[in-house]
Amino acid sequence: MCGIVGYAGPRPLKGVLMGGLRRLEYRGYDSAGIAIERDGELQLVKVTGKIQELENRIAGMDLSGSVGIAHTRWATHGEPNDLNAHPHTGCDDRLALVHNGIIENYHALRTLLLERDHRFTTETDTEVLAHLIEEHLENGKDRTLEDAVRLALQEVDGTFGLVVIDQHHPGKLVVARRGSPLVIGVGENENFVGSDASAFAEYTRDIIYLKDDEIATITSSDYSVRTLQDEARDPVVEEITWELDQIEKGGFDHFMLKEIHEQPQTVEDSMRGRVFPDQCEVKLGGLEDVHDILASAERIIFTACGTSWHACLVARRLFEDFVRIPVEVEYASEFRYSRPVFTPGTVLIAVSQSGETADTLAALRLAKDEGISVFGVVNVVGSTIARETDAGVYLHAGPEIGVASTKAFTSQVTVLSQIALLMGRLKGTLSKKRCEGILHEITRLPEKIRTILNQTDSIIEIASVFSKVNNALYLGRGYNFPVALEGALKLKEISYIHAEGYPAAEMKHGPIALIDDDMPVVVLAPGDQVYQKVISNIEEIRARKGRILVVATEGNETIRELATWVIHIPKTLDCFYPLLAVIPLQLLSYYVAVARDCNVDQPRNLAKSVTVE
Ligand code: G6P
Repeated sequence: MCGIVGYAGPRPLKGVLMGGLRRLEYRGYDSAGIAIERDGELQLVKVTGKIQELENRIAGMDLSGSVGIAHTRWATHGEPNDLNAHPHTGCDDRLALVHNGIIENYHALRTLLLERDHRFTTETDTEVLAHLIEEHLENGKDRTLEDAVRLALQEVDGTFGLVVIDQHHPGKLVVARRGSPLVIGVGENENFVGSDASAFAEYTRDIIYLKDDEIATITSSDYSVRTLQDEARDPVVEEITWELDQIEKGGFDHFMLKEIHEQPQTVEDSMRGRVFPDQCEVKLGGLEDVHDILASAERIIFTACGTSWHACLVARRLFEDFVRIPVEVEYASEFRYSRPVFTPGTVLIAVSQSGETADTLAALRLAKDEGISVFGVVNVVGSTIARETDAGVYLHAGPEIGVASTKAFTSQVTVLSQIALLMGRLKGTLSKKRCEGILHEITRLPEKIRTILNQTDSIIEIASVFSKVNNALYLGRGYNFPVALEGALKLKEISYIHAEGYPAAEMKHGPIALIDDDMPVVVLAPGDQVYQKVISNIEEIRARKGRILVVATEGNETIRELATWVIHIPKTLDCFYPLLAVIPLQLLSYYVAVARDCNVDQPRNLAKSVTVE
């Protein structure tokens, strides 16, 4: 949520900062801005709209200088317009600041600052930071920019990832973090900062993850990190774990399409070196030290948001089936403000693609504070959730850029299946024979996903019909109910068609009233345990003349008599149908959105990484 990039070094600032912003555009795209410092003077440009608007505005402008910052915004306080766009300045425009997060006491601070004759020009919470820093700079003779930022942040409640430049401190970036991610890129005679490493990965692979309550001073030749309490820190330089081509479109029209097509590979990557069917073994390095906790766990609470929450719903069934202990799935945003009852033996598993979702982070901190063992299933290596959990498993799905999550979901379900299998074996609730069969099948899934991707042409035809409707209903039962939720979410997110996911049998308690020609129904009806029950639900829709798209198992031709359209998926075990059934729904949403001329990778009002609550 909001992308930040900063640079100190000899390269042309405009190129580095705008290139970085483009990589971060998935984090927000309602307005953008850039500020540079040259010979003790600041120059600042900000515009409403996408980064392209900023590119257009600065084309031909000389924005050379020694340091610069840039920002792409996802509005929280104040509508997206030129004034509310970042960077922000104080009264006399000496400094410029970009911020990601929310200053919760901004109202009180603004009132105080107004009483002290500060003039405000925006509706944002961020602007108070600029005025506070400015005041601390002006009140203290010879005060460093870092000290002024530190003093200002002591007055602030809320979250921030911020970068400040000041014309009286040329060549310097001051960077601070609490709750919103920031990564420093360490180069030779140049240094970078970004909301994530993609902002500067083409220039350096050496990075430092700034931690909460740390502040860094960066110049082209040096960097230093201290705490907000002014203690020195010795930061660890790590290496980026992915390649540059993974954050490029690679010939696809959109990141989302590329990521859908990557799934045979990413599902395989999420089990590489972990699954040994012949030995009936699952080896998850990140959990090896906590086998005793997993073996004695008596209850699991999953917490997540969005698509990751849907993966947890699939996991509930997997864990109940393989591990036979009670499992709950909690929306992180609700859980964090509840008074959960943690019984002995409770384990919390936080699931997050980005590893930065503010609510998920708060939920895990709540459990941790209560002494609960907290594990993570995360994609982004080194992210905050990955670092704050006691142990965990990475997805290894590579960077996911499309705002609508696709490959992360399938990797999450794959990894969660492996954890359930591991726990089932540790606890002795899953027989060796059954485990062996499941492990053999999991290794066949990448190839099965590939065969579904080959059906794109028929899905495009169905999408052309769906692109003209205003509503859609998605139904599934058992393992596939969460897939119905995920299919509906995908359609809403990128095509703006109203869609609801429902347990198929619940339909008659409400949504059935809505079925008409304008509301096609997508039914997940693979050949699993509840197939016949789903068929009865399909009959109920037919009786009301609803148009039905059925996702059925290969070889089921009789279903054509009941359905308007059929998409076939390969046969698998009941527990793995979600991994196959979700693929045609992702493709359907994608092609509906394309047919409606929607911006697939950057749907309106959404952002990829939700770092505010
Ligand atoms: C946002 C994204 C979704 C994602 C959700 C949770 O809403 O647009 O795609 O599922 O956040 O994000 P996380 O990174 O925690 O999985």
